[in-house]
Amino acid sequence: MKEKDLENHIYTTFDKILKREDKEKLLNQRSLVIWFTGLSGSGKTTLAQNLEKVLHKRGFLTQVLDGDNIRSGINNNLKFTEADRLENIRRIAEVSKLLVHSGVITLNSFISPTKEIRDMAKEIIGKENFFEIYVNAPLEVCEKRDVKGLYEKARRGEIKNFTGIDSPFNAPLDCDLEIKTNVLSIKDSVEMILEGVLERIEF
Ligand code: ADX
Repeated sequence: MKEKDLENHIYTTFDKILKREDKEKLLNQRSLVIWFTGLSGSGKTTLAQNLEKVLHKRGFLTQVLDGDNIRSGINNNLKFTEADRLENIRRIAEVSKLLVHSGVITLNSFISPTKEIRDMAKEIIGKENFFEIYVNAPLEVCEKRDVKGLYEKARRGEIKNFTGIDSPFNAPLDCDLEIKTNVLSIKDSVEMILEGVLERIEF
């Protein structure tokens, strides 16, 4: 038991509950966290939603975790400071870790703007369970799409700390896959991802 647990009088029972392998066997799949990172409006959510449909059709049990949804629920006390973004991703990573243990394939769409944040997620989830996809669309393209009208508000100064405007986005250099959504169609993007993840999730 960890020193911290002893200090806090916490007695974990991880060794007594059913194992991940038991769940994976039941579901006939291997769990994985498919992590989409990229600017707001780059297409993370669209790709996750479309990929989920395809995986579902093929008989995989999945769960989408998405920035806006999570921020309206368990993370509704968090804003967009560096510290809050870190806490946002820390909690999501812990939830994802539980889902990995349940044998579920998780599709996570979060800006997750820095290497530090993504490395923390990878560390919590375990790098062997983590498939990182950089959803890459140039800022000008995301801003032009402006699906939620947020870039316009950020430019007017009505939203502070907006990623790509007055808050940084550091593109990943070591991801498993990069999808250029201003070049590829949704269908081709999903096919590419499927090709990348199938061998990791098939039992
Ligand atoms: S993260 O940086 O902590 O990973 P997350 O993915 O959860 O961000 O949330 C991003 C979503 O929150 C965006 O798609 C957008 O709809 C909304 N949002 C609101 N304010 C901001 C902001 N200041 N920066 C980025 N996204 C914002």
